[in-house]
Amino acid sequence: MMIQEEIQELKVARKALILAHNYQPGEIQDVADIVGDSLELAVKAAEADEPVLVVCGVRFMAETAKLLSPKKTVLIPAPDAGCPLSDFLTPEMIHDARQKYPGAAVVVYVNSSAEVKAAADITCTSANAAEVVRSLAAETILFGPDANLASFVQKQVPEKRIIPLPPEGHCYVHTAFTEDQIRDAKAKGWRIVCHPECRPPVQSASDLIASTGGMVQHACDCDEWYICTEREMGYRLKKLHPDRHFHVNPDAICKDMKKTTLEDLHRSLRDGIFEVEIPDEIAVPARKAVEAMITSRRREHDRA
Ligand code: 13P
Ligand code: SF4
Repeated sequence: MMIQEEIQELKVARKALILAHNYQPGEIQDVADIVGDSLELAVKAAEADEPVLVVCGVRFMAETAKLLSPKKTVLIPAPDAGCPLSDFLTPEMIHDARQKYPGAAVVVYVNSSAEVKAAADITCTSANAAEVVRSLAAETILFGPDANLASFVQKQVPEKRIIPLPPEGHCYVHTAFTEDQIRDAKAKGWRIVCHPECRPPVQSASDLIASTGGMVQHACDCDEWYICTEREMGYRLKKLHPDRHFHVNPDAICKDMKKTTLEDLHRSLRDGIFEVEIPDEIAVPARKAVEAMITSRRREHDRA
């Protein structure tokens, strides 16, 4: 039997749901039940009936699923898959900044550790960052750890003051995109979409700035795209729209997203490893911050 078939059999036997981020290797996306952006994975994890969730992605994604589904078993097949962006922000930095800016609200990107979430007021993803910031009463917002996403939010919400925490927080995959690449792609007549983790000049030169889920939603807007994000996004988009063209930078690779293999996923389902556990003293406040985001999203949907 092929490994993909064994994975499906184990999944049924364990009553598990396989969630995969849009940057996961193609063969992982192919066996997953749900493929999506960070927000979609968090929401589906919270809504799922299955008692076991297997999160193919990086650690913060599995931790977010565990926070929203504390009674479920949450497994991460590649336990050492981290996110270098998330390492830029520590709880101590948040505590210090709160002293410096009394009355400011603290918004952290889900690309952060559970400890950092526990020190924040609310989380956001790239799909809802501006919406979350707008929903807060505070006029000053401490926002981390991605300074480029902070700059994007500042443009969307000019009535508030956004302070990036720390000012140098960035993702190495997205900051590698350059204005020259955009110019070349434009010269070819391609439409440009970039992730808000790209640098502000790249954002300004792009036709659209979107989360990976937003890229899926807008894929039909034109036939030929240049996609400024992790290269596996091209696999996802091509699978959904085989008639369209999605050009990617072959060097835009998130090494941590590539740590999950079919063998890891198989082992995870077979042996029930590696279980994500978050101590209560961190999980309780971190859950509050993630649930605040989910509630703010529901309110926004009800209003629409
Ligand atoms: P999305 O929330 O857009 O899926 O992005 C997650 C991420 O890690 C971007 O680098
Ligand atoms: Fe983190 Fe960047 Fe990888 Fe996304 S692409 S998981 S932000 S390192």
